[in-house]
This record gives sequence, C-alpha cells and structure tokens, in this order.
Amino acid sequence: MPYSVESIRKQFPVLALHDKDPKPLAFLDSTATTQKPASVIDAMDLFYREHYSSVKRGVYRLSEHTTQEFEASRKKLAKFINAKSENEIVFTRGTTESINLVAWTYGRKFLKPGDEILISALEHHANIVSWQLIAEERGAKIKVIPVADDGDLILSEIPKLITKGKTKIFAFTHISNTVGTENPIKEMARICRGIDPEIKILIDAAQSASHKKIDVQSIDCDFLAFSGHKMYGPTGIGVLYGKYDVLDSMPPWQGGGEMIDQVTFERTTFAKPPERFEAGTPAIAEVIGFGKAIDWINQVGIENIAAHEAEIIAYATEQLSQVQGLHILGNPKSRGALLSFTMDSAHPHDAAMLLDEDFIAVRSGHHCAQPVMDRFHVPATIRASFAAYTEKWEIDRLVEGLKRVNRIFG
Ligand code: ALA
Repeated sequence: MPYSVESIRKQFPVLALHDKDPKPLAFLDSTATTQKPASVIDAMDLFYREHYSSVKRGVYRLSEHTTQEFEASRKKLAKFINAKSENEIVFTRGTTESINLVAWTYGRKFLKPGDEILISALEHHANIVSWQLIAEERGAKIKVIPVADDGDLILSEIPKLITKGKTKIFAFTHISNTVGTENPIKEMARICRGIDPEIKILIDAAQSASHKKIDVQSIDCDFLAFSGHKMYGPTGIGVLYGKYDVLDSMPPWQGGGEMIDQVTFERTTFAKPPERFEAGTPAIAEVIGFGKAIDWINQVGIENIAAHEAEIIAYATEQLSQVQGLHILGNPKSRGALLSFTMDSAHPHDAAMLLDEDFIAVRSGHHCAQPVMDRFHVPATIRASFAAYTEKWEIDRLVEGLKRVNRIFG
C-alpha cells in the first residue's frame, strides 16, 4: 500500500483534534515525544476497563490473560530489534533508566579505579551524567570522542581514546537529539571490537528506534536503550536490551518482588534476567501500550516511515535555508528526523513563543545536551523534529512563522 500521511494523521487523536483549532497545529516536537495512535490509547483503555489485574502474581484467569499480553509485548520488542531472545529485553521506565541500570549494575561490579568509559561529544545528559556518577564512585575516568563542525564524530580519534584493558564501556548515541547526526554505529562498534572485544558497547537508541531499522545482532552491541514514548507508545516505559550472558553477569539494581529466587533473612538469591532487573509491580498498561505501538510501526513499516521522514528532512533543510539569518546546526553525512537552528534576530525561546502564537510547536533550549551547545558556541537552539505523521504544510507554516519572527525582532 502506498504511504498515506493523511490517513496516518487521522489515526492520531491529538492531531485530529487540533486540526480544528483556529489554525491546525503544526506539531514539530516529536524528538521530545511522539503523539499516540488511537490503537495504543484504546489498548491501554481496554486493559483498565476489561482486563485489569496484576502480572505473574495470580493463577486466576484475569491475571493469566494480562501476563500473556505483557509477555507478548516483550516478544514483539525482541523481534523488533532482532534480539536472540525475549529474555534479553528488560522493561525500564525509559532510556535514562536503562542507561542508569547498566551504570549501577555492570559499572558498579566491573569498573575499577583507573578504568575508562568512552562516550561521544554528541550525548544527551542521560548518557553523560549516569557515567559521571558511577565513575566518581568507582574512581574511573570518562573520555570523549570529539565532534567536527559538520556535526559528525571524528571517528579516527576512537582508537586513540581506547586504552586496552582499561576502557570498559563505550556508550554512544545512534542519533543525536540536538544536532541530528546519525552515527555509523555498526562501524563504531567494529572499530571498538577490533581493539578490545571485551569492551561493553551501549547504544542510546532513544532517537532512532522509531525511525531506523535496528538489528542488535548485526550491530553486535552489548546494550541498547530506548523509550516507548518516542515510538508512538506511552510514557514511563522503555527497554534495556542486553546480550543475555552480559545481563546474567550483572547483579541486581533494585530489590523487591519478582526479582528474587529465594529469600530468607540471612540471604537472598536472585532470578535470572530479565526478571532480576524488574523489581516491583511493573507498568503493565504501558507495556501493553508499547506492544501496540510496535504493532503500529510494523503495520506502517519502519522502512516506509524512514523514507517519508527523509523526504521531510530534505524539504525542511531546503526551506529553512531560505530564511534570512537562520543557521542550521551542523551538516552531518546522515541526519535523523530533526533540525536544530539559531536565528540572528531572536533568542530561541523568544522565537519559540512567537511560533506558538501561530500554533507551531517546536522545542527551544539546550535539549539536555549542554556540552553540545558549548561545542557549537550557542546558548540554545530551536529544534524542529519530525515523525511518521509530519506533513510538508507544517514545514511551510514553520518557515512563515520564522519570517514573522524576523519581522518582529529583526
Ligand atoms: N530527550 C528528549 C528531547 O530531546 C526529551 O527533547
């Protein structure tokens, strides 16, 4: 079936509702969070109305049914990223928690004083601060791959930044949430493996999982972290993928129900992964909703979404380049579904407020990536970001809105 953005938009209640405002809403903030299709909202509503019960804690039919749905989502997610088994999928609250889980389990157990963690200059705070916290506790050091003016990482620096036997973790983003750079993750993993196959590779896929086909076996990463709410699913749910043996080598993080094997007052033994890392009653409705979001992406086809977004990115780049005094951050070889820019005439927050008067939603600020702002010598940027439902008229509206910013502030 041909890709029909019109019919896709109709499946998103927020977009349909705000099409009726004085002006239709141009929602250009999908990098922060995507809108949700009705199928996701309905599945969560149905669960609360008709099947609500806990998981793995009851032999009664309602709970059995819920447990099956919950585990079906885990299987869908495993298949979606081509994990070897659903036991490699740990449910977390989101990408941030997934990274923290690795830092506080793998990092706490295996990092020794003098060890090194390699990250990149394009990271979101979640992939910087989590490592800083554990590095401080364990006496480890953080090293950073620099980024060139075009927004591409300087890959030739990687071998110089890896110290064989000392570098334990290599954590980097697939797509930068700020510059939009799509990093060549397979190549980066290959360079690292070629130097020291023992280094554990973690990929932050928060900005890529709903935009690009990801195959964890082909990338050969140890961990991959992503969030449901950036993938047409609910907030408060995410995934940590981990190679099973690596997960199994890690101690638990939080203690509680379902993560144990045997408990006495003297000693507790722990469950196998993924349960070992899922203490407490999980976000059941969110897991079910996340599964539905994966169904939705599969039904539309991730390659089709990627092709549609590539068209939107090309159009947006061309149109925005014609706005006077507008500077797009970076010009990477491959760009994710977002553009960050500054304007000579106005501060990003002032511009974003004027755009909002025109029913245009963009994010302004440092995008939880202050080191990126410092690197590109800007205090903040305006960011327009796109998804499966983005249409060209929204870009046209953005351009008109930015011209108005120039007229008012220029
Ligand atoms: N990390 C999200 C963003 O870039 C919240 O906006």
